[in-house]
Amino acid sequence: MRDARHFSRVKKVPQVEQWSAFALETIAALNQAVAESGEAIEGNYCHFDGQPISGTVAPDPRRTAKRNVLRAAVAHCREALEIGFNAGHSAVIMLDSNRELQLTAVDIGTHRYGRTCADIIARRYPGRFRVHWGPSKSILRQLANNKKAEFDFIHIDGSHTVEDVTADMNFLLRRMKKASIAVLDDIRIPHISTLLRWSTRAGYLEEAGEQCTEETDNAALIRTCRPFRITRLIDVALSIGPPISRCKRWVRRLTGLNKRCHSGGPFSA
Ligand SMILES: C[S@@+](CC[C@H](N)C(=O)[O-])C[C@H]1O[C@@H](n2cnc3c(N)ncnc32)[C@H](O)[C@@H]1O
Repeated sequence: MRDARHFSRVKKVPQVEQWSAFALETIAALNQAVAESGEAIEGNYCHFDGQPISGTVAPDPRRTAKRNVLRAAVAHCREALEIGFNAGHSAVIMLDSNRELQLTAVDIGTHRYGRTCADIIARRYPGRFRVHWGPSKSILRQLANNKKAEFDFIHIDGSHTVEDVTADMNFLLRRMKKASIAVLDDIRIPHISTLLRWSTRAGYLEEAGEQCTEETDNAALIRTCRPFRITRLIDVALSIGPPISRCKRWVRRLTGLNKRCHSGGPFSA
């Protein structure tokens, strides 16, 4: 049975981590592929945005605590979905820390290095990894129609736009069963933190520990049994009260007060 105790080691050892030699070799191969692509790396669980990369650059120790949140969260899961694959660093962390895990990744695929990195992971973790290329909004719609696509873990680390993050959260809240685990990244971005706050206050998600610090910037959550039926974000705004109404711009856009941007509500199916 999963509950908050499941995550306790994250609080105890945020600065210590264990890498297998195999995972470090995989990370080195990914970094080599990024370097050969000639494109600057997008920030991820091992490296900062635009950091110079080569096959010998080690995972940045300043992201250890963040990696430990992900490791602890995925520890007892079987079928994981990751939105935002990038060069596959977080994918390696998950696949390496839980040998039973099957991982499905989604990425819009605009980075030159993305496909090469996905091939490396598929080769090194045979039968455990697959990737769908395209915007999460459309891929998740396809997955939602596929009854076989069941996940007990979801990592949201893709687009940061209000519309896309809201659509990703919509999938999470609709599709994840009771006691499934989610990790949300970049939760200090105001609209992501607002969505997170709302989802926990409304009783759809339960925070699994106190992991969010300046180093982690992510949070592990447990899906509760409360069915998700909200179809308009205006209900969200009303249910959360003053804190959310202070996030004026995006709430206005998503609740239809700005008609140009609104088409049916972000939480509609
Ligand atoms: C921050 S990176 C993910 C980092 C990765 N999780 C890691 O730590 O190794 C964000 C990724 O989201 C992808 N992305 C951006 N917009 C997207 C969208 N609309 N749908 C799916 N993926 C998207 C980008 O291509 C990028 O690879």
